[in-house]
Amino acid sequence: MNDAVQTQSSNAAFTKRVFSGIQPSGGLTLGNYLGAIKRFVQMQEEDYETVYCMVDLHAITVWQDPAALRRQTRELAAGFIASGIDPAKSILFNQSQVAEHAQLGWIFNCVARMGWMQRMTQWKDKAGKNQQNASLGLFAYPSLMAADILAYHATHVPVGEDQKQHLELTRDIAIKFNTDYGVDFFPVTEPVIEGAATRVMSLRDGAKKMSKSDPSDASRINMTDDADAIAQKIRKAKTDPDALPSEAEGLDGRPEARNLVNIYAALADVSVDAVLSDVGGKPFSEFKPMLAELAVGKLGPISGEMARLMENPGEIDELLHKGADQARAIAAPILEQTYDIVGMVR
Ligand code: TYM
Repeated sequence: MNDAVQTQSSNAAFTKRVFSGIQPSGGLTLGNYLGAIKRFVQMQEEDYETVYCMVDLHAITVWQDPAALRRQTRELAAGFIASGIDPAKSILFNQSQVAEHAQLGWIFNCVARMGWMQRMTQWKDKAGKNQQNASLGLFAYPSLMAADILAYHATHVPVGEDQKQHLELTRDIAIKFNTDYGVDFFPVTEPVIEGAATRVMSLRDGAKKMSKSDPSDASRINMTDDADAIAQKIRKAKTDPDALPSEAEGLDGRPEARNLVNIYAALADVSVDAVLSDVGGKPFSEFKPMLAELAVGKLGPISGEMARLMENPGEIDELLHKGADQARAIAAPILEQTYDIVGMVR
């Protein structure tokens, strides 16, 4: 084994480093913002190195129009920055700019087992009934995701609830690699799934996740929606006829009510109990305008700043190139050590 190979025995020996990514496969939604980006911004101010990425290689596991992909990638970068990601404090870049992701992804394709991938609920949902016709990339998606994280020896990964299974698989890949090669090389990553809005639901159906790929635009709030669109979508959001409860237990069995209260709590940075002690007893006809006002107040400045940044795509590209250089400086030596452990002559 190369001398440079580290032989740590616990995550305590690794730098506290955050990695997370978002697919540029559509516009940013309120779900991405509350479930992920808001936490990314907080962690940037905490005691971590933070690395954030637009995962374009993941996006093309399902067909993307090339011009739309380019626009969405820049728009996503603008969304990160407008939401408070500071390129002076965090590394921000585009996945395909750092080849180490795909290179380590290949090694992990040889570590991960077919059975592990077959159990992934996102694979089953996205491939649907016709798995034979899904791309091989879609099947291998979680292995590339493990490479994203482990190429930086990231110790913490903030995500929404829907990514939990993928992060468990990342841990399995790290452990199997370490065991197969008799090393303590990859950390066993901690998922960070916290807050009132780790699973923001569709505004039209409280049983479905809010998603950028939902065919109904009324089901989601897009970060680029203007004040009127936000207010209208909230006004039309599905609810039940009862008034809001005064305590959290009163939300049991009321998924739509729970969703709107969770969104309010997450936007206002207060607990669900605090929201309900204020609005308990009010009908939705009173609560919805309060939520719309809060959402417009919080999201309006972000979408305004996104639009301003999008006027200068050259500046965005330059920031991403700088970020990619910084990212490569961390990932390249880790990939080299991985090749060495595996037995590649370099
Ligand atoms: P993606 O692009 O689907 O979503 C990006 C982030 O937003 C969160 N999220 C939500 N959170 C709460 N409520 C929702 N309705 C909601 N919708 C989305 C997701 O949980 C995610 O945190 N596989 C990842 C991208 C990825 C990645 C990575 C993440 C690739 N490599 C490495 C972390 C680390 C994904 O599909 O995200």
